[in-house]
Amino acid sequence: MLTQTKTAPEAVTETRSNSIAFYDFHPQFDSMLSEVWQGLSETPKKIHPKFFYDARGSQLFDQICQLDEYYPTRTEVAILEKYKQEIAELAGEYAALIEMGSGSSHKIRILLDAMQPAAYLPLDISRDHLISSSQRLAEEYPWLDVHAACIDYSTAWKLPYRAEKGQKVAFFPGSSIGNFDPEDAHNLLKEIAQLVGPKGNLIIGVDRVKDKNILEAAYNDHSGITAQFNLNLLQRINEELDANFDLNNFSHKAFFNTELNRIEMHLTSNIPQYIKVAGKTFFFEQDETLHTESSYKYSIENFTQLALNAGFKCKQIWSDEKDWFSVYFLQVN
Ligand SMILES: C[S@@+](CC[C@H](N)C(=O)[O-])C[C@H]1O[C@@H](n2cnc3c(N)ncnc32)[C@H](O)[C@@H]1O
Repeated sequence: MLTQTKTAPEAVTETRSNSIAFYDFHPQFDSMLSEVWQGLSETPKKIHPKFFYDARGSQLFDQICQLDEYYPTRTEVAILEKYKQEIAELAGEYAALIEMGSGSSHKIRILLDAMQPAAYLPLDISRDHLISSSQRLAEEYPWLDVHAACIDYSTAWKLPYRAEKGQKVAFFPGSSIGNFDPEDAHNLLKEIAQLVGPKGNLIIGVDRVKDKNILEAAYNDHSGITAQFNLNLLQRINEELDANFDLNNFSHKAFFNTELNRIEMHLTSNIPQYIKVAGKTFFFEQDETLHTESSYKYSIENFTQLALNAGFKCKQIWSDEKDWFSVYFLQVN
């Protein structure tokens, strides 16, 4: 659940290098520990997918984006390439371009020349990856004012930078909205609507419901990179929360849940086992799973309705020829 009532944390550090301003709202050890303890105490066990993204998790995700089976990245990139001028025209004059979950800031490069933002604000939870990606981008685009912020957008958060007068545009690619259960997705879209303000815009990439085999292949690649990405979560918990997961005793599992229209990623316990995390013990039955990610897939109708309920009207939708992925241009009502 998004905790909307919590007060957003203040930036703990603000750093200005030659190329970027960086604001650190990074979630601390205590909040990660309590969320992991909580998730492992529930039935079924679960851990929030935001914890995938330490430096290695971000690198593995970048590798996933290159895989043959992982169609979402190349499909969304092709849509953005094809329609970037239209996107820029719809955005018109505006003050700041804010990217949610910017990762390696690869997709924004497609839009920058056409959209010419005065300021670009990449927001991501993966601190080191965010800093290096933002610095590389700022070096490539010396005319661009880059304000990067390490935040967790699944909890209360705020922008570190007050955009000058004019509209704000948010960019939320990668179908990351699909990682939220529908109620949380609704709340996050409402927060983005507040962030960009009246008549503000959101450009968002959303994966579509499609053949189960294509979906399942995308999360079960032959080279095993997605499995490594999934298992890296346990490695991270071992390193950061003093846990003793043996990665050989867990297996990657991903399947399409047709009832809920979502891919589910799990880690299955291969044996009965006790695991310690920062002094607290948890028992896994043989074949018990730890739910690590959901990735909801949306029809155009369902996503348009979700956006409408959150206060956005849909100005344009672009899709690929196979109708596998869509990019929406939304405007706050
Ligand atoms: C699926 S990847 C998408 C990356 C990139 N936007 C793309 O389209 O390829 C999700 C990105 O969102 C970031 N992320 C995940 N959960 C987050 C959270 N709760 N708050 C901020 N960033 C988050 C991850 O670090 C990662 O870079």
